[in-house]
Amino acid sequence: VTQPGSSTQAVAQLAALLGADCVRTDAGELAPLLVDHRGLYHGNAAALILPRSVEQVATTLAFCNAHHIGVVPQGGNTGYCGGATPDQSGNQVIVSLARLNRLRNIDPLNYSLTCEAGCLLAEVQRAAADAERLFPLSLGSEGSCQIGGNLSTNAGGTSVLRYGMMRELTLGLEVVLADGRVLDSLTGLRKDNTGYDVKSLFLGAEGTLGIITAATLKLFPAARSIATAFVAVADVQAAVELLSRLRNHSGDRVSSFELIPRLAVELTVQHIRPTVDPLPGRHDWYVLCELTSPRADEPLDTVLEDVLADAYTAGLVQDAAIAQSGREAESFWFLRENIPRAQRLDGESLKHDISVPVAALPQFVTQAAAWLASHVPEGRLIAYGHVGDGNLHFNLNQDPLIAAEKFLGRADEVRRAIHALVHEFGGSFSAEHGIGQLKVGELERYASPVELDLMRAIKLAFDPNGIMNPGKVLKGS
Ligand code: FAD
Ligand code: MLT
Ligand code: ZN
Repeated sequence: VTQPGSSTQAVAQLAALLGADCVRTDAGELAPLLVDHRGLYHGNAAALILPRSVEQVATTLAFCNAHHIGVVPQGGNTGYCGGATPDQSGNQVIVSLARLNRLRNIDPLNYSLTCEAGCLLAEVQRAAADAERLFPLSLGSEGSCQIGGNLSTNAGGTSVLRYGMMRELTLGLEVVLADGRVLDSLTGLRKDNTGYDVKSLFLGAEGTLGIITAATLKLFPAARSIATAFVAVADVQAAVELLSRLRNHSGDRVSSFELIPRLAVELTVQHIRPTVDPLPGRHDWYVLCELTSPRADEPLDTVLEDVLADAYTAGLVQDAAIAQSGREAESFWFLRENIPRAQRLDGESLKHDISVPVAALPQFVTQAAAWLASHVPEGRLIAYGHVGDGNLHFNLNQDPLIAAEKFLGRADEVRRAIHALVHEFGGSFSAEHGIGQLKVGELERYASPVELDLMRAIKLAFDPNGIMNPGKVLKGS
């Protein structure tokens, strides 16, 4: 633990080692990096380190390790769990990867790409598209989140159903360890059974084991046929059944299948321009689904139409709009991707990033919604997200007629009840957003003692001085 007063000296030494340009202490420059995206956590930092090279990251960590200085890696700072926010001591340093943002190599034949951790997700998607390939990770924050943050949170998003989460999209990593050594496992190999898969431990580690500086990622053939529909469904059970039919009849061409409740449509239309409600009537539940194929001549619109017509006859579907142009498809996606922003503009919210087995989702929603209706009149349920992954953002928004403090005062009780029900269903209290500092207590509550023992042993082996993102993921770390 750094002694108060010593951090000024340490910052001066770091500036001497890295160059003054890499070590920033200006309060104005630091301010936005000291608060998380949701405004839940406010920290302090002795300095912001902005390395330009892997060697400079290594020098920084070797120095901090020797002097027991806490290091908080930061990417785009869009995370939802306070993982990139330092504590309040003012003794920790933030290491931003923003300047490590080179695309090192793209290999269309190997269907892979190697980029540095500070590349924005949207830039990587574009680079792949320019080479007629697809990098499928897709998130509402893709314009500002970084690949390093995606890897470190094992990000999910709207195409997991077809392509998997960030862990499944990763072939190799370059990581600077807590003591400054560099692990170079940037292979583009598809098969490699040589002992423990050490690199995989950094995926989803939220910066607690080392700093990821580069990655080799999987690419896929670009999508050349696309069919997108906004569909009103009878209920969540109907959504799950529709997904199953679509997968079966399309030859598994479904790449996205997102559940959207009525309130999400209303809030987005109300708060974000130019959102358009795609259907004329009011329906309790909708799905936004997309079928894609690398073949240019695949009649996906016809497949979609046929499945929707059958589902209509079976009472699963109430109405549907199939996008007639790329622009119309974009407007459906605009609505979906702006739900989190609309929710924020509407008032306070309580978020629960849960998953249960897909087939159990309808029953979970019925039970959890019934509990909320009878116990939490202060909140309005807005459950949306990635049905195909069994992952819903089971959120509550403040009822505008009820004071924010009264609503927020229910947070602990609501979280406990929802997570307890998730647990009964064999689900997860953190499907895709991670633990950060927000869910440290929940991990302690729900992880088995064996898992916690192993996680602590791994942390100790990788970071014996406990400098890497202290207090995140593991309690007391
Ligand atoms: P940060 O927030 O900067 O950091 C996240 C964590 O990773 C921190 O613990 C940090 O210390 C660590 N870290 C960052 N870079 C490195 C590195 N190079 N090496 C080691 N550790 C590092 N998430 C989803 O999974 N699915 C979604 O659909 C989704 N949608 C979102 C929509 C919106 C509008 C917003 C604002 C967020 C959304 N998120 C979603 C959450 C967030 O965007 C993701 O978690 C994203 O992966 C975080 O990337 P970042 O670069 O912003 O990381
Ligand atoms: C999403 O899927 O939109 C995000 O993961 C959830 C959110 O932003 O609240
Ligand atoms: Zn999500």
